[in-house]
Amino acid sequence: MNKENAITPVFPVGKGKEDVVIRIKDLKKRFGDNHVLNGFNMELYQGENLVIMGKSGSGKTVMIKCLVGLMQPDSGSIEVMGKDITKLDRKALDLLRADIGFLFQGSALYDSMTVRENLEFPLRRHKERFRDRADTETLVLEALKSVGLSHTTELMPAELSGGMKRRVALARTLIMNPRIILYDEPTSGLDPITAKEIIELMRIIQARYRTSALIITHDVDCARVISDRMILLVDGINYAEGTYRELQRSADPQVKAFFK
Ligand SMILES: Nc1ncnc2c1ncn2[C@@H]1O[C@H](COP(=O)(O)OP(=O)(O)O)[C@@H](O)[C@H]1O
Ligand SMILES: [Mg+2]
Repeated sequence: MNKENAITPVFPVGKGKEDVVIRIKDLKKRFGDNHVLNGFNMELYQGENLVIMGKSGSGKTVMIKCLVGLMQPDSGSIEVMGKDITKLDRKALDLLRADIGFLFQGSALYDSMTVRENLEFPLRRHKERFRDRADTETLVLEALKSVGLSHTTELMPAELSGGMKRRVALARTLIMNPRIILYDEPTSGLDPITAKEIIELMRIIQARYRTSALIITHDVDCARVISDRMILLVDGINYAEGTYRELQRSADPQVKAFFK
């Protein structure tokens, strides 16, 4: 990875708790009798990697969907960079979303487009935002270089391995120069070695772009390597919080179960 390509971070890393980029308060969401979130609280600080762990079906994806306005919570408040997203109109929400990068389960590349076209897509969609930045070609190459895939511009997704697809998806997120990146199970479906590469890449990106990241995973190794702080989601609430080491030492049986 080479230094000349580094994009100067626009937003400096926060110094502490006063720099909250996401604040979720008392979030509740149920589907009929299925009470998924029962008062979930969370704060994401500027520049940190926060890992949320929870069993399958515990509501991690529901939480992240509420967070980006794809799902309406029953109650609670969600502030992203100082704005209550439940109160924004579509246009304002769209603008805010441009500051947030997603890497959802699976890579969700467009199969009929080349890698280059996949990366150009978000740039075209948010044209105004990029008027003052370098030309598209440079941005595409820069983003691909930062995930170690500059040679793949003209390839189709079908020609890429699972790990490469995930990297391209990450490049497509980075090209937007996001302040916050949300990762939903970024290593799921990858073999252990490829998973490690993706985790390493996430670490490099955080160090280089000074993004704040919310990482949802059930991969304990991923959590250990990448987390500055962790929250365990149990029974729809933020059941336990702390660093990996703190939680790993916990005597609570529910917490212990995560580290087995
Ligand atoms: N759109 C939906 N309609 C009904 N139930 C849903 C919907 N989305 C999620 N659920 C339910 O909410 C619970 C949490 O799901 P999810 O957040 O996807 O879990 P995970 O923690 O594995 O990401 C599950 O019981 C799931 O069946
Ligand atoms: Mg999920």
